[in-house]
Amino acid sequence: MNYLSVALNSTHKKEKFSCGNTPLDNYLHKQASQDIKRKLCACFVMEAETHKTIKGYYTLANTSIDKQLIPANALKKLSPPYKSLPATLLGRLAVDTQFQGKGIGALLLIDALKRSFQVAAHSIGSCAIIVDPIDIKAIEFYKKYGFILLPDSGKLFLPMKTVAQLF
Ligand SMILES: CC(C)(COP(=O)(O)OP(=O)(O)OC[C@H]1O[C@@H](n2cnc3c(N)ncnc32)[C@H](O)[C@@H]1OP(=O)(O)O)[C@@H](O)C(=O)NCCC(=O)NCCS
Repeated sequence: MNYLSVALNSTHKKEKFSCGNTPLDNYLHKQASQDIKRKLCACFVMEAETHKTIKGYYTLANTSIDKQLIPANALKKLSPPYKSLPATLLGRLAVDTQFQGKGIGALLLIDALKRSFQVAAHSIGSCAIIVDPIDIKAIEFYKKYGFILLPDSGKLFLPMKTVAQLF
């Protein structure tokens, strides 16, 4: 399977990454490598052509979602007999300011959906992608790609069945 991203490693110039959002920058600079070592998430980066510069990154982890949070119409399609459902958390997604507005965010999102779908299809059950947007703008970004706002949680959700139609 071809991906546009590679796993973050020590050769990447992560300290130079700047997306305009301090928590997302700090996460890559200071926390991501530790989280990877502790198996708390996987972090993937899109590399610029030269010098291991990072154009953008995202993180993935397992999560679960309370069935009661899922809108009734989406639940009907899933018809699960469980209280909580396995899902994939797209915890963070960011693009360096010098590369924003060039379609990289969209490409990274598709890449994250592709990886998540492959795992759900062949290895570990996951019925949806969950995102936890940092602000209103991020909500608008995800809604553009079909993510549905989960009332009360502030999170958004994309059924894996919808993702499957993409690949
Ligand atoms: C949000 C972000 C990831 C978008 O990346 P990008 O590379 O600039 O986005 P793209 O060029 O791929 O744009 C894709 C589409 O999303 C739209 N878009 C981009 N940024 C947006 C934003 N902040 N809010 C709403 N829509 C946005 C674009 O207009 C474009 O739509 P179009 O195809 O209809 O023209 C990037 O601006 C970023 O890293 N911001 C700071 C961190 C952040 O907010 N992350 C959000 C997830 S937590």
